[in-house]
Amino acid sequence: MPDYEKIFLDKLRDNDKRAIIAVAGLGYVGLPLALSFSEAGYQVVGLDVDGEKVKKISRRESYIGHISNSRLKDSAARFSATTDFRLASEADAIIICVPTPLTRHQDPDLSYVKGTMDSLLPHLKEGQLLSLESTTYPGTTAEILKPPLEEKGFVIGRTFFLVYSPEREDPANPHFQTQTIPKVLGGCTPACSRVGLALYREVVSLMVPVSSPEAAELTKLLENIYRAVNIGLVNELKLLADKMGLDIHEVINAAATKPFGFTPFYPGPGIGGHCIPIDPFYLTWKAREYGVHTRFIELAGEVNSSMPRYVADKLSKALNERGMPLKGAKVLLLGMAYKKNVEDMRESPSLEVLSLLQEAGALCQYSDPHVPRLPTVRRGSWDIASVKLTPETLASFDAVVMLTDHKAFDHDLILQHSRLLVDTRGAFPIGPTVVKA
Ligand SMILES: NC(=O)c1ccc[n+]([C@@H]2O[C@H](COP(=O)([O-])OP(=O)(O)OC[C@H]3O[C@@H](n4cnc5c(N)ncnc54)[C@H](O)[C@@H]3O)[C@@H](O)[C@H]2O)c1
Repeated sequence: MPDYEKIFLDKLRDNDKRAIIAVAGLGYVGLPLALSFSEAGYQVVGLDVDGEKVKKISRRESYIGHISNSRLKDSAARFSATTDFRLASEADAIIICVPTPLTRHQDPDLSYVKGTMDSLLPHLKEGQLLSLESTTYPGTTAEILKPPLEEKGFVIGRTFFLVYSPEREDPANPHFQTQTIPKVLGGCTPACSRVGLALYREVVSLMVPVSSPEAAELTKLLENIYRAVNIGLVNELKLLADKMGLDIHEVINAAATKPFGFTPFYPGPGIGGHCIPIDPFYLTWKAREYGVHTRFIELAGEVNSSMPRYVADKLSKALNERGMPLKGAKVLLLGMAYKKNVEDMRESPSLEVLSLLQEAGALCQYSDPHVPRLPTVRRGSWDIASVKLTPETLASFDAVVMLTDHKAFDHDLILQHSRLLVDTRGAFPIGPTVVKA
């Protein structure tokens, strides 16, 4: 039997960069990763089921705000995109970066991972490495990906290599890119780990090996649960601080001066994005198999998902104090993306606030420099476009609600011209027109 580990490692050591990398799923995670490998000199083929996305990438047009067209253009010689999964047979390594959402019943939805595996399987061959990057519960790699590979006749660790290596992308964070974010990896066997580590070391400065795919899967979930729980904690304390007449942001910033044992997390209108509202529940689901009830995850989910309602109630009360009902009030929402300085609308709590206010009869518009028009998302569809902020527009609303504090917002303009400003981000000093929520 050929020594596939040696063949793989030799290809990577080769200065001609002969190894070919396939990335399945060209989204927020897969696209930057594919670009990183191509920028490191490798031939990369991107596989995606979304024909429109593939066409756009082939025209070297980026659909992600923080990835420039010029970066795509510069990679044209080494990075191509296709919907044809047969090309997986030409790759030495295949990396899966497809969505892992929840079903309507809040259970893990692995249909994308399974679908990708079904498409890849007929084209896989001996000597290849398969790496799963999608966030998921411990056991996915061994229970979902390994059995079909073995049924096909591969011996994992000898004729085929299988690893789990979670993504730690922080979109739009200028301080950390693929290369500078340490990457965790767990292989199904020691040989799988060696092959996987060698591959990623080509584009990541620091690899962090762990003993198994399960350990790597749980590491990723721990990171996101840690965030969800700490955000839940500060969101709960925000409610208390408000009743005590204290500003939670002042308190957090003071606590953050402690040089050890405290990491600041900040409250807001709820949590959004593909990760924090979803991933913790992958573990809740898996924990049931072990008879364990993950109370911290459930509690954080409960607190965080009650925040949009809290914001809507705060606005209603503030209007009431000014002798105005919420029904019929003209309300401008600032920031619809779930996170500052990005266009990503997935699970954005701003949409929940919008829905609640519209249900109560408020006349809502929004402004978001990153979201010119509200797209159709899981929560619903709205046919409205972003309003340009001017002194006149701001003054024409009964209330303005700061939901996502993009850098592009002119704070002085907003503060000066808003008749009532409800601030969920601690972006404005407390004053006669500012209400914290
Ligand atoms: N976005 C983040 O910041 C982030 C960070 C860390 C981890 N993750 C995890 O990475 C994974 C991917 O997330 P994302 O944000 O890149 O998702 P995304 O929705 O931006 O991209 C996923 C891509 O996969 C494609 N796809 C769907 N089914 C496919 C199939 N069968 N074959 C090939 N392609 C298919 C989609 O068309 C899409 O282009 C998820 O598990 C997510 O939890 C995301």
